[in-house]
Amino acid sequence: MTRLTTLVDSEAVSGRAAVEIARRVDSARRERGVAHLALSGGRTPGRTYKLLASELDSWDRVEVWFADERCVGPQDEQSNFRLAHETLLGPAGIPSDRVHRMEGELGPEEGARRYARALAERVSFRDGDLPVLDAIVLGIGPDGHVASLFPGAPTLDAGERALCLPVHDSPKPPPERITLSLAVLRAARRCLLLATGAEKADAVAAMLGQPSRHVPASLLRRGRLSVIVDDAVAPAPPRAEPDQPNDPGTNPQAS
Ligand code: 6PG
Repeated sequence: MTRLTTLVDSEAVSGRAAVEIARRVDSARRERGVAHLALSGGRTPGRTYKLLASELDSWDRVEVWFADERCVGPQDEQSNFRLAHETLLGPAGIPSDRVHRMEGELGPEEGARRYARALAERVSFRDGDLPVLDAIVLGIGPDGHVASLFPGAPTLDAGERALCLPVHDSPKPPPERITLSLAVLRAARRCLLLATGAEKADAVAAMLGQPSRHVPASLLRRGRLSVIVDDAVAPAPPRAEPDQPNDPGTNPQAS
């Protein structure tokens, strides 16, 4: 069952997400000796990463991956790696040999090929051929995309053996990207999806509805999904049934 948490504002979402991520990292280390954590980019998770940096006393035995990356250099202001480095990797002192950057500067094909190899070599826990990451932090686009898996895109049909995919036509700039496959997202022990702001309300509602290729987030594995949203996103509570017209108490026209 998807776990949906609604909090008053984006700051509360960031704080809760940081606590939840830290808890999952810690339990993965205790249970399996290592934690594999993948991060998304965009505007939503930066504050979470800043808070997360101080949620754990030690970042030993944590391997950091990425859910997607733009095909830019690591110092580019559009780089998801740069966002993570400035907010989490640097402040937490996570050494570069435990940070697995998607090499966007190599372009979609070569970058995706090398990342798939790194995942296969470095993540020892498997679901069939799929590497099992412990926690993947996701945002969601207003169109329901997650990572760089966009509505109706052929990447959604890449199959169970695809680990990492090239993207050439992202509707969200820049057009060239690298993304984890849907299969890898679905194999993860937990996906934590963060959404704040009214512009995400329809996408979150669609995600919780019928699975559809038109809403990639709806294809995540529901039983391994935590959704943390603010009030602006929260699905509206069911409307109270209006009083019957002959009830003068609430319908002045009827009196
Ligand atoms: C990216 C992200 C992307 C993001 C959503 C939401 O590289 O752009 O990984 O998937 O999570 O587009 O973006 P915002 O958090 O900026 O709304």
